[in-house]
Amino acid sequence: MKHKLIVGNWKMNGSMQSSLELVDKIITHISPAFGDKISPHYVVCPPTVYLQDLNKAMNKSVVKLGAQDVSEYNNGAYTGQVSAEMLKDIDCDYVIIGHSERRQYCGETDASIARKFLAALAQNITPILCVGESLEAREANQTEQVVLGQLNAVMDSVGAEKFEHGVIAYEPIWAIGTGKTASPEQAQEVHAAIRTLLMSKLPKEIAKKMMILYGGSVKASNAASLFIMSDIDGALVGGASLDAKDFLGIGEAAKMPHTN
Ligand code: PGA
Repeated sequence: MKHKLIVGNWKMNGSMQSSLELVDKIITHISPAFGDKISPHYVVCPPTVYLQDLNKAMNKSVVKLGAQDVSEYNNGAYTGQVSAEMLKDIDCDYVIIGHSERRQYCGETDASIARKFLAALAQNITPILCVGESLEAREANQTEQVVLGQLNAVMDSVGAEKFEHGVIAYEPIWAIGTGKTASPEQAQEVHAAIRTLLMSKLPKEIAKKMMILYGGSVKASNAASLFIMSDIDGALVGGASLDAKDFLGIGEAAKMPHTN
C-alpha cells in the first residue's frame, strides 16, 4: 500500500509569526508518529519569503518543505524570480508547478510549465504538476480533453522517463477556493483517466505508483470520501491547510487504506 501525500498550499497568506506557529502545531502533532507506521506523508508550501525560517524551525521533521513556484531559468537577469538551485539551498523537496492561479494571473503556459518541471527535477526537487478544467470546459463535456491535454503537453516535452518523477495534482478550477468539491465519483473518473494515460506511456508498475492528488475545497469533513477512491493518492489543500486542526484532520482521513 502506498502512503498518501497531503500537501498544504498556503498561497499568499499569513505572516512570519503565524507561519511559524502553524508549522509548529503541525510538526508537534505528527512527529511522535514518525517511523514505518506513519501515513500519510506531509508537505507544506509557504510563501517563498518564509521558506528559510520554516526550514530551520522544522529542523529535519518528517514534514517536507515545498515552494509554490520556481523559475524556469537557472540564474541571471530575471528580476523577482527564484531558481530551483536556490530552493534546493534551503532544503525544498517539492515545488508546485502550473497552479491554475499562475496559469490565469501570470500567463503560464504548458511550455513554460514543462521548463519549470525540468528545472525542478535537475535539482532533485519533486514537481507537483497541477492540471484542471474550467467550469465552462466541464459543462461542455471537455474535462478529459483539457486535463489530458495539459498532461500530454508536459509529458511530451519533458519525456516519459523524467515525467515519472513528478506528482500530479488534479484540481478542477471551479472547485478551488469555492467550497464546491468535486464529488468523489467525479474526481475518481478524472483520476482514472489520468492513470490510464500514464499506463499507456510508462511501465505499468511505475504508472500505478505515480501519485495523483486531488485538490479543490478539500476539508477534514470530505477528505475520507475522496481518499477511499482507488486512484486518489492524496490531496493538495489550499484554504484548509491554513488551520492546523483542519489540515491534520485531512491527514487523519488519509490513514485509511486504499480499496485496491
Ligand atoms: P482550496 O485550494 O483547497 O482552497 O480549494 C486548493 C488549491 O488551490 O491548491
